[in-house]
Amino acid sequence: MNEVSAVEGATEGSGGSAVGSSRFVRACLRQSVDRTPVWFLRQAGRYMPEYMAVRKHHTLLDICRTPEVAAEVTITAAERLGVDAAIIFADLLLPFTPMGVDFEFLAGEGPVVHVPIRTAEQVKALRTDRIDELSYVARSIEKVAAHFAPPRADGDQLGIIGFCGAPFTLASYMIEGGSSRNYIETKKMMYSDGVAWPLLMEKLVTVLVGYAQQQVEAGADVIQIFDSWAGALGVTDYRQYCLAATTELVRRVQALGVPVIYFGVDTASLLSTMRETGADVIGLDWRVPLEVGWKSVGYGCGVQGNLDPISLFAPLEVLKSRVTEVLDAAEGRSGHIINLGHGIVQGTPVESVIQVVQWVKEYGA
Ligand code: CP3
Repeated sequence: MNEVSAVEGATEGSGGSAVGSSRFVRACLRQSVDRTPVWFLRQAGRYMPEYMAVRKHHTLLDICRTPEVAAEVTITAAERLGVDAAIIFADLLLPFTPMGVDFEFLAGEGPVVHVPIRTAEQVKALRTDRIDELSYVARSIEKVAAHFAPPRADGDQLGIIGFCGAPFTLASYMIEGGSSRNYIETKKMMYSDGVAWPLLMEKLVTVLVGYAQQQVEAGADVIQIFDSWAGALGVTDYRQYCLAATTELVRRVQALGVPVIYFGVDTASLLSTMRETGADVIGLDWRVPLEVGWKSVGYGCGVQGNLDPISLFAPLEVLKSRVTEVLDAAEGRSGHIINLGHGIVQGTPVESVIQVVQWVKEYGA
């Protein structure tokens, strides 16, 4: 499954002479492809009736922790949409449980961490020795990988994406206790606790590398690292407090033998610094034109994105013009994966998502 050779300590990505097994993996490695690969952030979610049917009988965490169900949800979404990659159904916060941080998802509120991590003592108490408890995600990946092992009708192998959070974004949930607008508690620890913050970053990297390793061994072709809220940081703070830990995570995941996609939202001013992590592909949100974002990260790196998720609510002719605009902006360069700039939201018309896939397949044909 993972034919990509590991380049220990690589800062120029996982490329080398490896040949990707699918157009998605090939694009991650900036190798030539017959057409631009397409998939969607949050492609399995509440906008999709098939997901809601499963969700009727299971909580979100039940789905994540039951490999048969998580695999079914992953597979159904990828097949319904006809995309080139399947992202494993899991959640960013799952590693909190073996670290000793209890959380739940409350309807309408999103994730809630009952006892937020605010002190050095609490950080010191976080466990990093129970990563095995996350192996249910690897079991889901094995099922998805087995399902998609045979090449598809067009001869291509579907890409399988494993994922984890980035240290800053995960720390923000731990410290704030949930979603946040201003990240006050997170930044307070970051600015003022020279013991707790670096230790928290280090512990998260330890857990995330182990978790990513389980996913790669189970058959993930690529690991996407979600730094969804990195855009809350100015460049100086990102560089001073987050870049080293994130770079360490990227480098150690690449050493497992897979390309890394590093994604954040509202990152226009951070892109060239995010590129310093050495990630193979940088995810772009929709606020930056694709050609501007790609120039910022440099053409030695792939890019993923970057349609506005809400453009999926537009009349089809408007949506089509946005899809064409993004594809045109890539100018046929190797290393573009078309996607949204952030996740599909509830209420999105499924037919519009499928239509985007069709247009991508027809483009330039
Ligand atoms: O197809 C897929 O992408 C599904 C797999 C997936 C989920 N969460 C399932 C999920 C992925 C890749 C994630 C990542 C995730 N989780 C992120 C990073 C991605 C991003 O959006 O930036 C974040 C920040 C989380 C934490 C999280 N999980 C939040 C803030 C919420 C609540 C927001 C909401 O939409 O209600 C969740 C819940 C969640 N995780 C859902 C899904 C499909 C919502 C659906 C449900 O409750 O059943």
